Amino acid sequence: MTNTRLTTASGIPVADNQNSMSAGARGPLLLQDVHLIEKLQHFNRERIPERVVHAKGSGAYGRFTVTQDITRYTKARLFSAVGKTTETFVRFSTVGGEKGSADTERDPRGFAIRFYTEDGNWDLTGNNTPTFFIKDPIKFPDFIHTQKRCPFSNLKSPQMMFDFWANTPESLHQVTILFSNRGTPDGYRHMDGFGSHTFSLINEAGERVWVKWHFKTQQGIKNLKARDAVRIAGEDPDYAQRDLFQAIESGRFPRWTAYVQVMDDAQRLDWERRTGWDAFDLTKVWPQGEFPRLEVGVLELDRNPDNYHADVEQAAFSPGHVVPGLGFSPDKMLQGRLFAYHDAQLYRVGTNHQYLPVNRPRCPVQHQQRDGAMAVENFGRAQNYQPVDAAGVPDGDHGHGEPGWALNGTSGRFDPRPAADDYTQPGNLFRLLSAEERQDLFDNMAGPLSQVDATLQDRWLGHLAKADPAYAEGVAAALRARSAR
Ligand code: HEM
Repeated sequence: MTNTRLTTASGIPVADNQNSMSAGARGPLLLQDVHLIEKLQHFNRERIPERVVHAKGSGAYGRFTVTQDITRYTKARLFSAVGKTTETFVRFSTVGGEKGSADTERDPRGFAIRFYTEDGNWDLTGNNTPTFFIKDPIKFPDFIHTQKRCPFSNLKSPQMMFDFWANTPESLHQVTILFSNRGTPDGYRHMDGFGSHTFSLINEAGERVWVKWHFKTQQGIKNLKARDAVRIAGEDPDYAQRDLFQAIESGRFPRWTAYVQVMDDAQRLDWERRTGWDAFDLTKVWPQGEFPRLEVGVLELDRNPDNYHADVEQAAFSPGHVVPGLGFSPDKMLQGRLFAYHDAQLYRVGTNHQYLPVNRPRCPVQHQQRDGAMAVENFGRAQNYQPVDAAGVPDGDHGHGEPGWALNGTSGRFDPRPAADDYTQPGNLFRLLSAEERQDLFDNMAGPLSQVDATLQDRWLGHLAKADPAYAEGVAAALRARSAR
């Protein structure tokens, strides 16, 4: 709301916003200048902590429109009819860099989509890659430490990165994507998005299928060559923010077509038995030949936020936000993430972050959580406990419970790696690349790999050779070419 009268935050008219109150023309200043003091105090508190990962990002509002009927798989009301639209908010991001880092750094890109449904917020907090580096959340803090700055030198460290990856062979699939030109997408509009994990869809009959979500860009895939990414990082570090913002301001609304790959549980068991893979392993993809993508709808972004801090910086996405008709899977990474996001946001944004406009559901909200800092919505006189011997008090809608899935086994800490095949899928990806794409991959990887010690280089090349001997030979040749320069 604009107002021509300048006031303090308490609404009191400000007499003069350009001259501090002083004892005489030369000062000193007076403590009774409460406007000056409030202004300086609030300024000192303008920053909230940046996200511990995905700190640099861009966001926009839009809508999701259903184009194909998937009600045989899900009762989620946002998919109830072809043509139905749901308001969305999307935040794109890089992962490892700080809030002021360059948009064109080599990194996965976050692709977090919020759907404001009539049954609450559904957040598909994904990336632009269908896989990830690790398959157990206990490794996530260590992995991220290798992507951030060395505690001693305060520099990014290829030695730390390749040390971790060489000890974590399941990372090879994602590392191959990272060092291909897909590691430097040309802005956010020209890349695909993936839910990455295996999730569930649940229909009216309570039947569950396993799904993977894909959002294919309608702008066409465009990646940057490494030399251009480096040049742009210097010339225009906010390249992706500028591109997205300007496209939307000028009416060139970006769009993605949404698809699901579907597997019922019998198919899962059969596929796992035949291939030896785990359908819930985030370091692997499901083959599209056997599990084709089914179109679901279109996501379009058509509105820039009016205020970056209010909407983009304070947005609090969580993989734990799913609505009736959607569900999780036993993927250990997803299970770890279900805890991590809300916890991070209690610290980063605050106890009542769900009341902020970008986070507030667009449907009625009723629960017994109360108080805490900034309790904007505190439910007035409503009961704050349950069970309660009174009529009209909101109760859980037990019809919305998920069907269970069968669990068994003895508790323990299980290392899947000795038996896992971590090389076939990255090898398959490598063999799909054109000669030019392979050469770019070799050169892109050789850059940071040339900065690590020789023993680690050899160990890393050993992993590449297991994926495809030509992969290792190509990177080794690129390393030799660099050292001959
Ligand atoms: C952001 C934890 C894996 C995608 C975050 C944040 C945390 C976190 C704490 C910051 C949240 C905030 O302050 O709002 C973890 C943990 C993981 C994990 C513990 C593994 C166990 C993944 C994976 C993906 C992913 C596999 C993609 C498939 C994202 C995205 C954001 C994010 C897109 C930024 C969301 C936004 O734009 O606000 N993660 N993460 N993360 N994570 Fe993860």
